[in-house]
Amino acid sequence: MQTACHLREAEPCPETSARPPAPASFEELARRINTRSATVAVLGLGYVGLPLLIESSREGFGVIGVEADPTRVQQLRDGKSYIGDVSDEKVIHLNAGLLTTDHNVLSQADIVIIAVPTPLRDGTPDLSPIQGACEDIASVLRRGQLVILESTTYPGTTEDVVRPILEQSGLVCSEDFGLAYSPERIDPGGTWTMRRTPKIVAGVSASETKLASSFYSTLVDRVVETTSPREAEMAKLIENTFRQVNVALVNELATIAPSIGVDIWEALDAAATKPFGYMPFWPGPGVGGHCIAIDPSFLSWKVEQRMGFGIGFVEHARSVNNRMPAYVTGSIGEALNRIGLPLRGARLLVLGLTYKAGVNDLRESPALHVLERLMAAGADCKYHDPYVPTVEVGGSRRDDIFRVPRGSPNRFQLSSVPIDDDLLSQTDCVVILTSHPGIDYQAVVESARLVFDAVGVTRERQAGNVVRL
Ligand SMILES: NC(=O)c1ccc[n+]([C@@H]2O[C@H](COP(=O)([O-])OP(=O)(O)OC[C@H]3O[C@@H](n4cnc5c(N)ncnc54)[C@H](O)[C@@H]3O)[C@@H](O)[C@H]2O)c1
Repeated sequence: MQTACHLREAEPCPETSARPPAPASFEELARRINTRSATVAVLGLGYVGLPLLIESSREGFGVIGVEADPTRVQQLRDGKSYIGDVSDEKVIHLNAGLLTTDHNVLSQADIVIIAVPTPLRDGTPDLSPIQGACEDIASVLRRGQLVILESTTYPGTTEDVVRPILEQSGLVCSEDFGLAYSPERIDPGGTWTMRRTPKIVAGVSASETKLASSFYSTLVDRVVETTSPREAEMAKLIENTFRQVNVALVNELATIAPSIGVDIWEALDAAATKPFGYMPFWPGPGVGGHCIAIDPSFLSWKVEQRMGFGIGFVEHARSVNNRMPAYVTGSIGEALNRIGLPLRGARLLVLGLTYKAGVNDLRESPALHVLERLMAAGADCKYHDPYVPTVEVGGSRRDDIFRVPRGSPNRFQLSSVPIDDDLLSQTDCVVILTSHPGIDYQAVVESARLVFDAVGVTRERQAGNVVRL
């Protein structure tokens, strides 16, 4: 029977400590990658870092996970996952590795991958987690190691931010140690596996590109090389900006469609039948998560710094998407009005709070903003989300009017309620904000007095009590 990893802080597993000493050259590192005798360390074991460490271990590499949050480290040592897409069974693959909060163990690694967050603070990219991680690495960096940045960031970060910090070690990039960038493309809640998703890779020099490529070739079917890290950094931001802008386009169209007598869902479904030159996107209460809601602003901020103006498409898309929670709240009020009920005091059941279906991630979720607006308007709100047992609401990062400090008595702790006929009969309106799998939307439509569907999950069903965004 497999058991969880019960290693004490910074205590190397026998397998790890028995590994051969550090490679003296990139050739030696290449050999270790080819023979799977290299040790891979990942800094930051979140949505990106944890699956990457697990896949490296499954591929036969020695693994070291360095995570700043001691609770997360303990959970992993106990064989427990805290990431929705990662099962406890997969965490078992880390048994033979070292899991710690102590970055000093990074000296034992051959490849060190940075997967820490890249948040926005008041509209400005906050690179302090990357900088902190680099300082940790620099303090123990040694010849022959390859450092790879995976965090999403603006072009130039690898060469202009990461490299100088690592060189404070006294070692020289591309001569003593290697440096590369490789953006992560995981699809939380989706069906694309890491192996099937092509991986973009670029080293500071050609030899580092080759090393990083040979490592990732063990984990994915296809590696795509770019000439320098800048193109790889930009490629990731292009992907996320493309999505942000196209979601904003259909959101803006959804807000004007009623005034010209158009059912936007039917129009978008019809447009989606074009077999070329079109890619379907769907409206909703906004965009969320740690990527689409944030990354395009990294790019626009960088351009603003250089050129004195941001990227118009990004700024407009952000503004359209960020206005959607207010638009959805207003539309719910109008729908209630049509059946003679005011929003204040209306009994609402919100279905789905996460930013995306099938995940437990609440970061930047627009559904939370809608819930907060509904509560601020005096609605009596309950929610059901199979992925979110409890949630604290009453504050919002985007809307100052709702900004309430964490722990303040003005914040509310809500718990997910089970959906049943009694609840539906005592509800004035069901508000669908995330289309999680496993919910019987047909039964909801049949039993509810009124349904407001912000994500189009009921669009196959014609029913007089359903109002769609
Ligand atoms: N979540 C996604 O779907 C996704 C997809 C592609 C790319 N990305 C990018 O990947 C990066 C990581 O995102 P995430 O969603 O995995 O973040 P996350 O918050 O889930 O995980 C990051 C982890 O890093 C830890 N950490 C922070 N500083 C550290 C340090 N100095 N040393 C060790 N651990 C540290 C945090 O405690 C946290 O557990 C971001 O740049 C993000 O934009 C995320």
